[in-house]
Amino acid sequence: MTYLKILGQKKLKGSIDISGAKNASLPLIAAMILAKDEVLIKNIPNVVDINTLLKLIVKLGGTFNKKDNKLRISTKALNSTKANYDIVKTMRASILVLGPLLARFGHCEVSLPGGCAIGQRPVDLHLKALEQMGAKITINHGYIEAVCKDGLKGAKIVFDKVTVGGTENILMAASLAKGETVIINAAKEPEVIQLCEVLKDAGVEIQGIGTSKLIIQGTNKKLLNIKSFSIIPDRIEAGTYMCAAAITKCELTINKIIPLHLEAIISKLEEMNCKLIQNETSITIIPTNDIKPVNIITSEYPGFPTDMQAQFMALATQANGTSTIDERLFENRFMHVSELLRLGANIQLNGNIATINGTPNKLNATDVMATDLRASSALVLCALVAKGQTNIHRIYHLDRGYENLDKKLKNIGAEVSRSNKT
Ligand code: UD1
Repeated sequence: MTYLKILGQKKLKGSIDISGAKNASLPLIAAMILAKDEVLIKNIPNVVDINTLLKLIVKLGGTFNKKDNKLRISTKALNSTKANYDIVKTMRASILVLGPLLARFGHCEVSLPGGCAIGQRPVDLHLKALEQMGAKITINHGYIEAVCKDGLKGAKIVFDKVTVGGTENILMAASLAKGETVIINAAKEPEVIQLCEVLKDAGVEIQGIGTSKLIIQGTNKKLLNIKSFSIIPDRIEAGTYMCAAAITKCELTINKIIPLHLEAIISKLEEMNCKLIQNETSITIIPTNDIKPVNIITSEYPGFPTDMQAQFMALATQANGTSTIDERLFENRFMHVSELLRLGANIQLNGNIATINGTPNKLNATDVMATDLRASSALVLCALVAKGQTNIHRIYHLDRGYENLDKKLKNIGAEVSRSNKT
């Protein structure tokens, strides 16, 4: 199987252009099920997760054409409402078709996603909300069977927990429902905001965008006239490369970003003693030779993102002192720790809290295994500073969410290549 070879301790220099956000693209592609006509989406990242969702759209009867980072997609000819296990099992975000399919057709079957490497990740909140909107939901042979013969009706939904995917699913469902839906305790992530804005541009009345209370006036099954739009920059990809600058102690400029989306990440890098020069669409990281330890608690946006936790753990291995990371969103998101230990890191785990005893320049290259998308990027970061050649196995995890990672790293001076040899 293909693995990534990284020769550590190379001097990096230059700039990196950030791609479109995977986590904004996924709900927006699912939202195309609500569209009347073909839509052009720009700045789509070329990553495996997007291809997986497009495969599902095609299975449902949709069509698309993807060239460079432009996607033309049409769901006019949709003729199936079944999202099969073989696709859903490979990517949990496939659950995002549930709300739009049900809203448009009044019935659908979507495979239950099941567990994943970072924890149990149930979809109970999505289902409960759809039931409140009038859907009858049964679980049969591992499939969610949802029916609402007379169409979904607006309702007041109070999410027990902030859920990004749940908010997105209900937003899409509410757009075609009859009447007003109020979502309380909605997620405020930039990716949720972009979904709201695209729906609003298509004529759906939405109030409270960017707040925890969203009020949506549904169109009563009238399909939407969705206009062309461009995907926002990937804040997690940007944060990962900002960490690459900090960990290698090399100045890098990160282009094509929205600095506002990166505030929690910027603030932690500053606490760690890095200097950041911000422009409207770029940030230059002036690293420090004396990385300070930090304490991080993951939370919903605008708090510190769980998707950046592993990368900051990598960085904390190079700090002068002891850092802590308290993972509050997912119960099993420390799979990377055992791999970082193999590289020579000193980390103790106690439940959902990791204590990282940093010692600069101590990591030694070895073979490591990627366990999930963001865990893999932590391994890449450590490999960039480890002595010798690190081989990262199971890199299909990385390809799910990082566009041209090898190329982008090579362009700034890293020694990275792929190998198929065993
Ligand atoms: C999204 C992101 C993922 C990110 C996560 C948290 C996408 C495609 N993925 O995932 O990268 O790490 O947000 O920022 O955008 N929960 C329930 N019941 C539910 C739904 C969620 O208990 O029905 C729990 C989850 O187990 C988790 C928490 O709520 O503990 C937050 O999960 P959620 O925000 O839904 O994450 P995703 O949308 O799956």
